[in-house]
Amino acid sequence: MIGIDVTSVDRIERMYERFGLKAYEKFLNPEEIELVKKPETAAGFWAAKEAASKAIGTGIGASCSFHDIKIKKDKNGAPKIKYRKKVRDMFNIKESHLSITHDRGFAIAVVVNTFN
Ligand SMILES: CC(C)(COP(=O)(O)OP(=O)(O)OC[C@H]1O[C@@H](n2cnc3c(N)ncnc32)[C@H](O)[C@@H]1OP(=O)(O)O)[C@@H](O)C(=O)NCCC(=O)NCCS
Repeated sequence: MIGIDVTSVDRIERMYERFGLKAYEKFLNPEEIELVKKPETAAGFWAAKEAASKAIGTGIGASCSFHDIKIKKDKNGAPKIKYRKKVRDMFNIKESHLSITHDRGFAIAVVVNTFN
């Protein structure tokens, strides 16, 4: 299954201006926040988690929260995504793949899952 999302960088920037770190903590874990050096990256991570929630067909909610999805980067800067084990087990997910792009004030992410 695949999921896609587009997120306005401006929206994420305004959230950060209004709520500070709490804005990021709502959808990112501390390791993810460490990776955010510019608002485009935060918007990309938001889009990535929304896309991941679509790729399991539920959206963000009771079965899969923002904190049930974890993003890292490899040594080349490529983003990697993984659901928490309880979500992987519930939806029979084997592997998840993520791609992010941003331009002209928008970040877009696509997530593809394979199944056991
Ligand atoms: C990685 C690359 C394809 C990104 O393309 P881009 O048009 O610059 O930027 P986009 O907005 O489309 O994508 C940016 C996102 O791509 C992702 N990305 C970064 N490196 C990546 C990689 N090696 N593989 C896959 N995805 C990558 C990140 O999520 C990044 O978001 P971030 O900046 O918030 O971390 C491009 O920069 C590239 O080819 N880089 C390698 C060569 C290079 O860096 N040359 C310059 C030094 S010689």
